[in-house]
Amino acid sequence: MYSLGFDIGSSSVKVALLDVTTGKAVNSAFYPKEEMAILSPQAEWAEQNPSDWWNNLKLALKDVLAASDIDKSTIKSIGISYQMHGLVTVDKNGEVLRPAIIWCDSRAIEYGNRAFEEIGEEHCLSHMLNSPGNFTASKLKWIKENEPETFARIHKIMLPGDYIAYKLSGDIVTTKGGLSEGIFWDFKTQTVSKELLNNYGFSEGVIPTIKETFEIQGLLSSETAKELDLNPGIAISYRAGDQPNNALSLNVLNPGEVAATAGTSGVVYGVSDQLKYDPASRINTFAHVNHTNIDNRLGVMLCINGTGILNSWLRKNVAADLDYVQMNHEAEAVKPGSDGLLMLPFGNGAERVLKNENPGATVKNLNFNLHRRGHLLRAAQEGIAFSFKYGMEVMEQTGIETNVIRAGKANMFLSPVFRQTLSDISGSTIELYETDGALGAARGAAYGAGLYNSIEEAFSSLEKVEVISPIPENIDALEVAYENWKRELI
Ligand code: XUL
Repeated sequence: MYSLGFDIGSSSVKVALLDVTTGKAVNSAFYPKEEMAILSPQAEWAEQNPSDWWNNLKLALKDVLAASDIDKSTIKSIGISYQMHGLVTVDKNGEVLRPAIIWCDSRAIEYGNRAFEEIGEEHCLSHMLNSPGNFTASKLKWIKENEPETFARIHKIMLPGDYIAYKLSGDIVTTKGGLSEGIFWDFKTQTVSKELLNNYGFSEGVIPTIKETFEIQGLLSSETAKELDLNPGIAISYRAGDQPNNALSLNVLNPGEVAATAGTSGVVYGVSDQLKYDPASRINTFAHVNHTNIDNRLGVMLCINGTGILNSWLRKNVAADLDYVQMNHEAEAVKPGSDGLLMLPFGNGAERVLKNENPGATVKNLNFNLHRRGHLLRAAQEGIAFSFKYGMEVMEQTGIETNVIRAGKANMFLSPVFRQTLSDISGSTIELYETDGALGAARGAAYGAGLYNSIEEAFSSLEKVEVISPIPENIDALEVAYENWKRELI
């Protein structure tokens, strides 16, 4: 038996096919090969057309099916991982009304700040565990205030993964996890927040039907099955935002366990059984994939928008003659601490860890007689690791201790400079695994469809490939650099 995983990122869509019996990936593919467009009709805005996600999904799936010699009737489940906090709006015919406003779009901040004050900070934090901030509900409020004609035509709103599931099954449904990441969910009443709906002036009717994260949420329709060259009736049996899904992919499900990613944006994600929050909402608490009304499982999450995107910006604009491996070699030739050169990676929209300020990236202390390109490349990776460390200090205040970080061997975790710096400055051991979000989603779906008896069974074949421990000789230089870096923060 087989299970498919779809990972709807903001730079590409990845598809993986899992052999449920061996627990191994049969094949995977991603599209587009160059990064997917992010439309920015105004500074601070970020939109994508949901049809781009769908079309790239079809291309990636086609490659996976072509490369896999399997009987398609043995594909039993589909799981979806998706870029979080986005907003897709459809009319009563199910047609998309406008491009999706995606996670790194900063336009809705002031609506979120106002609602935080009006609903009351205490209420927002103790019930929704966050300020409405710049998340999905605030994005919808922006449409209400700025595009009233579109708002009047909205039949349902969806997170990006709900939209993909809708394309597959024709059913418009969501999950508590999805609603929590949009700041629609009241953890105390275990319902959509009435206070939020009232304050923003939304009717509850725009919220889709709620399904469990792991259950048969819909079946692949005959029409879409034809379009995808699959058999109809495959169970769509798991969906989650890319960060909770990354944690699931790394078998991070219980208090004390911590996962990280460092792609375009970077995240450190710890699991807690307490309804805890940061009073300043610099880190966020959402429902984890295994959260239930009885057993709290919350994902406490630090998100840095400007992570791998700084490294890719440098490759395009400063080191176009190098690939990432060569960039890492050049960075490695410079000592830890980058001879005083500092870089702050905050150039990808409002940063939650900086209370939604959007300061742009900074290069500090550049000395023309001392620093070479390798210093810039190293300082960038150190700056990203320092931004993680800074957020981890905030996480500690909500009870998340980080001794071991699990991550997929991908993106910035492929860089020895980045992962060693993170290990040194945080004092944590880093365990790298051979997995990714698409494969994790395929495993989640296999569990949701009952092909595995437990989540533990679904993840028993997960392979640890590398362990990185702090190197004591690096620590002094990095601590000095980190203290200087922190002084440059706004
Ligand atoms: C998490 C976040 C990002 C997006 C990227 O809160 O905003 O990781 O999910 O896809």
